Amino acid sequence: MANPVLTMEGISKEFPGVKALEGVDFELYPGEVHALMGENGAGKSTLMKILSGVYAPTNGIIRLKGEEVVFRNPLAAQHQGVSIIHQEFNLFPNLSAAENMYIDRPEIAGRFGWLSWSKMYREAQQLVDSIGGGGIDVRKEVRHLGVHSQQVIEIAKALSFQADVLIMDEPSAALPENEVQKMFEVVERLKAQGVAIVYVSHRMKEIFEIADKVTVLRDGRKIATRNISEVTEQSLIRMMVGKEVSQLYPVRPFQQRKETVLQVKQLSLDAAHAVSFQLHKGEILGLFGLPGSGSHTIACRLFGLAKGTGEIGINGKPVQINSPAEAKEMRIAYVPPDRHRQGIIKPLSIRSNLALPILRDLSEGGRLNQEKIKKISQYYMDRLHIKSPNDLQSVDFLSGGNQQKVVIGKWLASKPEILILEEPTRGVDVGAKAEIYNIIHELAQNGLSILLISSEMPEIIGLSDRILVLHKGEFVHEFGHGEADQEQLLKRASNPRLVEGDAV
Ligand SMILES: Nc1ncnc2c1ncn2[C@@H]1O[C@H](COP(=O)(O)OP(=O)(O)OP(=O)(O)O)[C@@H](O)[C@H]1O
Ligand SMILES: [Mg+2]
Repeated sequence: MANPVLTMEGISKEFPGVKALEGVDFELYPGEVHALMGENGAGKSTLMKILSGVYAPTNGIIRLKGEEVVFRNPLAAQHQGVSIIHQEFNLFPNLSAAENMYIDRPEIAGRFGWLSWSKMYREAQQLVDSIGGGGIDVRKEVRHLGVHSQQVIEIAKALSFQADVLIMDEPSAALPENEVQKMFEVVERLKAQGVAIVYVSHRMKEIFEIADKVTVLRDGRKIATRNISEVTEQSLIRMMVGKEVSQLYPVRPFQQRKETVLQVKQLSLDAAHAVSFQLHKGEILGLFGLPGSGSHTIACRLFGLAKGTGEIGINGKPVQINSPAEAKEMRIAYVPPDRHRQGIIKPLSIRSNLALPILRDLSEGGRLNQEKIKKISQYYMDRLHIKSPNDLQSVDFLSGGNQQKVVIGKWLASKPEILILEEPTRGVDVGAKAEIYNIIHELAQNGLSILLISSEMPEIIGLSDRILVLHKGEFVHEFGHGEADQEQLLKRASNPRLVEGDAV
């Protein structure tokens, strides 16, 4: 067997009040895809940040090709061949995609010279195209790019270094299924070139598709490293959670629902497309479409984030929704797909974030009822297993998945009448997923009406009472209770005209 390209020995990391890692050993070989798994807060990102020079370990050493190394910062690590794609986007919104790719690289920027912008754009575009990002214009400012385009830029940026080791921390979390496949082609290509890849993901399917080995962390300790052929989904879950998770989706019996809560007529998505639909009381209505099909725009329109024409009725009354404030007034809540821009205020504590949308309800005679806030916050901390020493901790210090739980908790706490969930479990571990699904189900049973937008097919099939399929701004099919399967769903969403006997 070849020598490892990299070893980590006895790595520990302590943050104030948190032991994030304890005595972790990790070995990486050239040309392997090594999955790193574990629940939210298990220590995956921390281990990878140590490996890439973001954090210094409290204890332990790193060897690169046998030599002990100390990476003083991420740039030093990159120059020695260790690149990381972070879980959270690190792009500057007001710079172009190309500028973002070369900003940390004075040596390359120098090569382009002041007048060689066109050359920089050309090289950047080539790199982006080579990983299947052909549709992206690298001259565009990043803030105008969608989530998945931004992720492609992140990958291209990391690849612009000659990497021996490439760390991908949940690279697929923001990517739709077809983009994930493109990314896997890139991963396979790099692997064939001998690059060692660490792949962090909560998606089982991906692990079995792409990984050669898997290492599981639990509560900051290493549980095991195994060849992928030696494990099953169940055995991995057991290693991660420490017990069985038997049922991911709640059982939702069929119920005839008649009471219309939300009526949408000719709601415009762009100049050429408009949709009409109804949402019933207590219903979970799934919206499924490929990226750009319009489901995100529907959410934005209903929450007052985008303007257009059309009629919206709530409980039989016509309403105008021109801003999120007005949407909240109508008791509509929205869990957005991009938690950084819209979801949470990071420097604030978990408790403050959870209480934000309900501050008005919690004030009595101009004073906040602190006891009540504390109780609500505790409830969601427990129920969603938000991992933190306490709820006064700043959200900034939470792991990615735990931040997502705060976003969800925040809107659940606001007790809406209509809840729009877009990619609600992105980056959330399997145990917490089951818990979130249970909560969604319970809320619907209690009369909350839910619009569920998700690119994860099992999720939308497992939870929805009814599924509307969108294709290029139009509804092309409706699946009733229990009718949808993944194949049918994808077929209708990608090319409805190919489906026989379908009236479109
Ligand atoms: N800068 C920090 N300050 C304080 N605590 C931190 C900091 N970074 C991480 N932690 C804590 O360390 C633990 C491990 O976090 P880490 O981000 O490594 O988890 P993870 O396995 O990547 O989880 P996820 O799947 O949610 O991304 C968590 O309890 C987290 O709150
Ligand atoms: Mg993480």
